[in-house]
Amino acid sequence: MYDRTIKFLPHELGPPWEQVRVEVDGELVSWMQTFTVPHRLRGATLESAGVVGVHTDDAHQMRGHMRFMLESVLERAERRGVPLSTLYGGVADVYHRWAYATVMPEFSFSISTRRAEAVPGRHRIRPGEPGDRPAIARLYNRETAGMTGVRVRDPERWLGPRQGLYFGRLDAWVQVALNDHDQIVGYCIGDQIDHDPKRLDIVDAQATCSAVAGSLIRAMAAEAIRHRMGSLDFHVYPTGRVGRYLQNLDVSMTTERPISRAQMVRLSLPDQALEALQPYARKQAEMLGSDRPGRLAIETELGSGNLALGGAAPARTIRLPADRLCELLFGYRSAEELRDVHGVRLARPDAELLDVLFPRLDAYCYWPDRY
Ligand SMILES: CC(C)(COP(=O)(O)OP(=O)(O)OC[C@H]1O[C@@H](n2cnc3c(N)ncnc32)[C@H](O)[C@@H]1OP(=O)(O)O)[C@@H](O)C(=O)NCCC(=O)NCCS
Repeated sequence: MYDRTIKFLPHELGPPWEQVRVEVDGELVSWMQTFTVPHRLRGATLESAGVVGVHTDDAHQMRGHMRFMLESVLERAERRGVPLSTLYGGVADVYHRWAYATVMPEFSFSISTRRAEAVPGRHRIRPGEPGDRPAIARLYNRETAGMTGVRVRDPERWLGPRQGLYFGRLDAWVQVALNDHDQIVGYCIGDQIDHDPKRLDIVDAQATCSAVAGSLIRAMAAEAIRHRMGSLDFHVYPTGRVGRYLQNLDVSMTTERPISRAQMVRLSLPDQALEALQPYARKQAEMLGSDRPGRLAIETELGSGNLALGGAAPARTIRLPADRLCELLFGYRSAEELRDVHGVRLARPDAELLDVLFPRLDAYCYWPDRY
């Protein structure tokens, strides 16, 4: 028998980050980082345990060390009442074992540098500085408040973008747009520029009005010209201000809908998540008039929760796997789709009720927040 231990150590980035190390007989075998961070979900804000940089040393793989580490991290977060866990699954088909589900589409707008150059821009643009971070975080929080999936950035503690599209490359850069009073009215975060780049990747862009969105796009075209790049790719939410501006230009927009990889969420404490969604669900249920049940219980293998719907019809109980409930709550699939496409056992009236309570929507998490 070997002696396996897990340690939670301080992280160079400070709290809420932690280093996790698993040792066998004193030798380091697996490691990862974790941190607690709020995400938005249909008007509620829920804490999530971020899982980052999961690794087992080559010589020690396939012996259950990662399972032990992840389960210890999740149990610890659950004991602290953290209802969600989020990760970016770079390797497909690993994390479904722990009920993580992909719940967000990937959006990308591609525009030629020549077209982007023709966009009018009148705002002054300058490189972002560390002192700009609180203003950028506040602007971002305001612009994304109504979205699902996004992280909330603490203005006092946000460390700036830690990465662009690729985990591990930590040189994402920031440009800010200023109004006539030198206040920050928009910003762009771009990916590290390689030595032989073909395109410029913008991984987050927020603007307080459409004229600012235009100025940012124009400035990014100038940046692309400087590096002799033929096109720009904006990885932004389509109904954000920059996304809306781009949709009126000559762009190609792609939407990917990954399964069991990319941005994944686990509903660790379904009871708490449902409690936080109670006001949203109650309001949605009003559409059904008095036909709605007085109460709906949702049972999963990770726990059960209740929604008081205020109707006169008898209480109902619906059973769903936690990963499917997660897809439903984040709007990735309708209950009808869970039933018809994924073969989830769900009576038609139950699927209809769930689709009124939690209609489909597009969730999104900007790239700098995915580490
Ligand atoms: C992925 C990785 C962390 C797994 O570590 P590990 O200690 O070997 O994993 P475990 O032995 O605890 O395996 C846990 C489960 O995951 C499965 N699994 C492990 N590696 C897998 C892989 N590459 N693809 C799919 N499933 C995998 C195992 O079969 C096991 O499933 P089971 O318990 O249902 O049988 C390790 O292979 C690694 O460090 N890879 C390189 C870095 C990496 O890809 N990290 C993930 C970034 S998202």
